[in-house]
Amino acid sequence: MTMTQLKQRSLLGLKELSKDEIESILDRAAYWENHSTKVHNTMQGKFAANMFFENSTRTRFSFEVAEKRLGTEVLNFSAAVSSVQKGESIYDTVRTLESMGIDVGIIRLKPIGVLAELATKIKVPLINAGDGNNEHPTQALLDMYTMRKHFGQLKGLTVTIVGDVLHSRVARSNLWALQKFGVKVNFCSPPNMQATDLDVSYVTIDEALKSDVVMMLRVQLERHESGMLSSAESYREHFGLTVERASKLANHAIIMHPAPINRNVEIDDELVEHPQSRIFPQMENGVPIRMAVVERALS
Ligand code: CP
Repeated sequence: MTMTQLKQRSLLGLKELSKDEIESILDRAAYWENHSTKVHNTMQGKFAANMFFENSTRTRFSFEVAEKRLGTEVLNFSAAVSSVQKGESIYDTVRTLESMGIDVGIIRLKPIGVLAELATKIKVPLINAGDGNNEHPTQALLDMYTMRKHFGQLKGLTVTIVGDVLHSRVARSNLWALQKFGVKVNFCSPPNMQATDLDVSYVTIDEALKSDVVMMLRVQLERHESGMLSSAESYREHFGLTVERASKLANHAIIMHPAPINRNVEIDDELVEHPQSRIFPQMENGVPIRMAVVERALS
């Protein structure tokens, strides 16, 4: 495989992906969503390795479901029970699986920059399943798919991403991809959770409620320096989507959240499965999106 083919089949982020490429992944996901047969043999004989160096439920299992639906042989690597615990490096781990003949590697990593470096050394397509606070492209693709399904098109929508954007790879991937489609993206965050490196408008929580899509983010306590969050109650009071705030949303507006959720912190318990919530449909849409992305890597 040439370097150009390798680059075309890999998915490291949405910042560098064209609008046409994103659209073709969304269209292919719609094809898979509407396909009634659960398991296909399209990718029979291909090996996919899911390499998660950071915890995951949704991304890891929806990649596995997607791979199995495509007929792919699936290898699941978990750092917690691997030789990483003996000090083996990320590069040596991925290189080991490559040498065993995998056809695609799906990787989640905590340190930023490692995935981009791996992609220059590994000769099979790599798919980013979450890269520090840099990008989470398949999450943003499934978010866009969910919005497009609800509104018919993305152009002209206003999407406000509320919460801990500083630590959010979901916010970054959505921002960069949605802007290519003519979506107005705002952020709404406490000052110490704002991402000052990004060129984006910050709005108040009251302004956020006027949006077509209110995307709530998890407060990522595991990535915080101590003292970033004074209390869960105070965060909910100032930035949480409470039942009272949600009553001000337009009838056509939708609530999204990439999950996992801190219930009653960034979003009230009653809103998670509210008629305007698309949180579980987002997870459902993750499977056809990942089928489209894995198929693109293996085709
Ligand atoms: N949304 C998301 O990435 O969830 P997981 O961390 O469970 O994969």
